[in-house]
Amino acid sequence: MNVLVSGGTGYIGSHTVVELLKAGHNVIVFDNLYNSKIETLDKIKEITGKSVKFYKADLLKPEEMEPIFRENEIDCVIHFAGLKAVGESVAKPHFYYENNIGGTLNLTKLMNKYNVKRIIFSSSATVYGNPAFIPITEECPKGICTNPYGWTKHMIEQILTDFHTADKDWSVVLLRYFNPIGADESGLIGESPNGIPNNLMPYIMQVALGKLPELGVFGDDYDTPDGTGVRDYIHVTDLAKGHLCAVEKVMSSSEVNIYNLGTGTGYSVLDIVHAFEKANGLKIPYSIKPRRPGDIATCYADPAKAKEELGWVAEYDLERMCKDSWRFAQKTLANEI
Ligand code: NAD
Ligand code: UD1
Repeated sequence: MNVLVSGGTGYIGSHTVVELLKAGHNVIVFDNLYNSKIETLDKIKEITGKSVKFYKADLLKPEEMEPIFRENEIDCVIHFAGLKAVGESVAKPHFYYENNIGGTLNLTKLMNKYNVKRIIFSSSATVYGNPAFIPITEECPKGICTNPYGWTKHMIEQILTDFHTADKDWSVVLLRYFNPIGADESGLIGESPNGIPNNLMPYIMQVALGKLPELGVFGDDYDTPDGTGVRDYIHVTDLAKGHLCAVEKVMSSSEVNIYNLGTGTGYSVLDIVHAFEKANGLKIPYSIKPRRPGDIATCYADPAKAKEELGWVAEYDLERMCKDSWRFAQKTLANEI
């Protein structure tokens, strides 16, 4: 297939491009490089021995995206490009709504114009809000999001669903990711957030590298086995492979299909700290801090639908996620300022 990947130099996008290339797809990538580096393309080539066609293009500038559609035969689009920092979205809602929603409207307008009506969208478990039940199936009602980032996912899901209602040629796959961590086994690509990280594993990485003194654990009085928050951490390579199955689905279906991509197992913050210490023979100093506003106690998937309909299951265990995260940190993050 000829697959156009928006945001393909980013964290999940780059891992998905690797898996697409390994599976023999022809990949075209665009990104405005706001939160990623052009060097990622060299790393992808080093890992796979294959190149992708790259366009530096912005979702907010249709004139930069249009040549991609004019110059290439595209079978489907995997749409990763977007802003994802929850705290920043609270401070700058306009920026988030414009980039994520306005950008998606610009992209899909061009898709309509060039008759490319197959899209896989990066959604998030955040659309479930405080979930009505656990483990979360796709039947779980969408909830109240606690921040504009979450609302952009919520709304884009609705927008793409409405496109399908109006025009049955639109084939839509909405993938609701749980908590991706880890890195490609090469250690060449991984997650490298700007500034002080908000998410758990990137923060642990900075502590392990000695760049930050200790981890703050946000609350130990939740109704969970050890009192700390429970999440469904999934290896980014497993997540990337889920997109290969989604490509098959989006090409063969003409419906809106929704899938949770998670492992189905919940781990607490302290489980993660201890698993990381054990896997890598390191100590992660931590102290208990107040709860973080907007956090929920427990969030993990029932991934049965993805198994049944896509034939996809997550394969890598927590030890592997911790080892691969640390390999990337040592190889790459250690050299960053
Ligand atoms: P990322 O920031 O590493 O990748 C996103 C890419 O999009 C970046 O390379 C960025 O430069 C690009 N981008 C942003 N705005 C753009 C624009 N206007 N035009 C062109 N490119 C633009 O993030 P990621 O972790 O790889 O996430 C990918 C997608 O998955 C995002 O939509 C994110 O919201 C979603 N998601 C991520 C997580 C997670 O935990 N990482 C969880 C659920 C959903
Ligand atoms: C967060 C976002 C979610 C987004 C996801 C991926 C919120 C409320 N949710 O999910 O919308 O899709 O990131 O970008 O921000 N923790 C600590 N100390 C830290 C960091 C985290 O104890 O320094 C805890 C958190 O309280 C939580 C767990 O670790 O229990 C995971 O946190 P995080 O990695 O930020 O992911 P989520 O909050 O699940």
